[in-house]
Amino acid sequence: MESLTGRVAIVTGGNSGIGRAIAKAYAKGGAKLVLAARRAEQLKEVEGEIKAAGGNAMGVVTDVTKEADVVALFDKTMKAHGRVDVLINNAGVASREKTDELPLASWQRVIDVNLTGCFLCAREAFKIMKAQKQGRIINIGSVSAKVPRGNSVPYTASKFGLEGLTRAFALDAREHGVLVSILHPGNTVSSLGRPTQIGANPEGRMEAEDLAQVAVLMATLPHEVNMLEALVLPRTMPFLGRG
Ligand SMILES: NC(=O)c1ccc[n+]([C@@H]2O[C@H](COP(=O)([O-])OP(=O)(O)OC[C@H]3O[C@@H](n4cnc5c(N)ncnc54)[C@H](OP(=O)(O)O)[C@@H]3O)[C@@H](O)[C@H]2O)c1
Repeated sequence: MESLTGRVAIVTGGNSGIGRAIAKAYAKGGAKLVLAARRAEQLKEVEGEIKAAGGNAMGVVTDVTKEADVVALFDKTMKAHGRVDVLINNAGVASREKTDELPLASWQRVIDVNLTGCFLCAREAFKIMKAQKQGRIINIGSVSAKVPRGNSVPYTASKFGLEGLTRAFALDAREHGVLVSILHPGNTVSSLGRPTQIGANPEGRMEAEDLAQVAVLMATLPHEVNMLEALVLPRTMPFLGRG
């Protein structure tokens, strides 16, 4: 197992939910964190929490759908730390409109963040990691990359797409020492995964910190080993099937 100490990790959506938990777990392991998201105040908050616990963190206001923002994020990281060891492609949004009434703008917003944003970040990370001959890109997928919920056409398409993006990047990157993988969370407590039917909700929910343990494992496997895919579920989630 490899150590996180001194490794430079960029976490998109690192100011909330799953990204925040992964960032904090990596910082605890000794990594230097670069947190990327749009809301500056929440970025400052998480940066402060990590620093208060003795860790190393820097927030960079970034909209992952904007190419110039993503390029600037990687430039700033290289100026500050001179390398990028791990990218957690975590920023994501969902839409809940009915399928037959789905506005094009909703489709576009979800695809832009969940798929195009991940592509832009992965491309920039790959350039740097290829030169380093080392690095890991971990995309945060979803159980929706396997089985959809109702009224989730853009989200489901984006997460199936992210699985394709993962496999294609993994293939192109491996000869350069760069490992690409996907971590699919089941229902997880966060603003996106908030309980919408408390009481009537039998699904169960994990803490983001539980999932972060798997993200730590994926990033600390020996360099020659890639956990290409991990599907992590709360025990009572009905995903497994009938009965
Ligand atoms: N929670 C679950 O049950 C669950 C299950 C399966 C998969 N996931 C996946 O886990 C990931 C994290 O979700 P979460 O549950 O932690 O939700 P969350 O708490 O709502 O976090 C979403 C994060 O994405 C960031 N973000 C959104 N649009 C962005 C943009 N254009 N540019 C940069 N950052 C952006 C947000 O920050 P700003 O708003 O400040 O930009 C926020 O940090 C997502 O990819 C989601 O699909 C979650």
